[in-house]
Amino acid sequence: MVITVNDELVPKDLARKYSQKEILELEKKFLAPAVGHYYENPVLFVEGEGAVLKDSTGKEYIDLFAGICTTITGYNHPKYVSTIQWQAERLVYTSSLYSTIPYAVLVKRLAEIAPSGLTHSTLARELSSAGWRTFPEAHPSGVRFTPFGYCYRCPFGKEHPSCDMECAHYLREVIRTQTNNAIAAFIAEPIQGVGGIVQPPAEYFQIVNEIVKEYGGIYISDEVQTGFGRTGGKWWGIQHTGVEPDIITMAKGFGSGIPIGGFISRPEIATDYTVTDAFATFGGNPLSCAAAVAVIEIIQEAKYLEKAAKLGVHLKKKMEELKETHKIVGEVRGQGMMLGVELVRDQVTKEPAVQETLMIMEVCRENGLLIGKGGLDNNVIRLQPPLELTEEQIDQACTILDDAFSKAEKSL
Ligand SMILES: Cc1ncc(COP(=O)(O)O)c(C=O)c1O
Repeated sequence: MVITVNDELVPKDLARKYSQKEILELEKKFLAPAVGHYYENPVLFVEGEGAVLKDSTGKEYIDLFAGICTTITGYNHPKYVSTIQWQAERLVYTSSLYSTIPYAVLVKRLAEIAPSGLTHSTLARELSSAGWRTFPEAHPSGVRFTPFGYCYRCPFGKEHPSCDMECAHYLREVIRTQTNNAIAAFIAEPIQGVGGIVQPPAEYFQIVNEIVKEYGGIYISDEVQTGFGRTGGKWWGIQHTGVEPDIITMAKGFGSGIPIGGFISRPEIATDYTVTDAFATFGGNPLSCAAAVAVIEIIQEAKYLEKAAKLGVHLKKKMEELKETHKIVGEVRGQGMMLGVELVRDQVTKEPAVQETLMIMEVCRENGLLIGKGGLDNNVIRLQPPLELTEEQIDQACTILDDAFSKAEKSL
């Protein structure tokens, strides 16, 4: 029996209208305080369309953050919603103890879009969490860290290109002094997301990859944020660097909001991957897999790769123009629909404009614009919108940012 959506059957508690105040009260009473929201007065979103979200009062917001770089197909995309409904009407879950059609179709589709040589996927977990969390207690003991190519604040006090890519070569020091010279793998994002949209020169990855191979390691590209066309022109961020990874990890835009994560690897690595805990309860569940197949098709049909490249050039140019007129803008960086604007209190000392970043976010929110933040000091504005964004929305967003920068500068 196929069930079609019947509003009458939806729990009344979910379907009734709520005010923001009511929901905040419920959260205060029943939600663990560790779950924090953006903004002094958090927003209650109730629906969205394209790259625009609507709050409980009907106010609209252009979304340049895509719910932490995730809703790649925007909100309410007809193909996405229809596929989820269609799959939910049939089969939501059985576990990967059994075959299901969406899991098999999805791993086939992934192999078609993955970098060359990567063919075998596991959609249960991603390998990336091992390294990126900033809490020391979350670092597995076998993990070592090496500097990233953060040219604006070079850890070696040098300047590119005369630096000779010391940050990349330093990996050899890390391996020689902190390991037994036999590494399992190296993992990095092609452009750091939470780290503040930091994009090293392409040579960084080429040098690091050579060193990793010299010491017998495999190269893992963490594409959780950079994947699925976000960087423009290519499916994966690493493809802009000339490095051919052995594994890529993916999540976020992969399901465009429906939870799913996984990795795809060379077949010989997949054959070696026999650990017994490769299983995860929700791994490869049909609902998430069906949504992800729809996401891949939307990216192809709506030509998001080309769109992200084109819109990215437009947005970056506009942000560079704002840099000319606003001394608070220290650097604009990134590519495609993954741009960062590092805010500083002083162009020379580069003192991070931490409070001002918060103020800019508040002003943007007031004026109907959502942006993200990141970086070690939380002073980098992250622009990682849904790829359903339009050029007109970019122009509107830049007018709002222009005003927000001016207001923040008055407080310097
Ligand atoms: C690049 C990258 N890798 C991995 C993760 C970890 O994802 P999760 O939140 O599923 O642990 C994130 C989360 O933001 C991320 O940005």
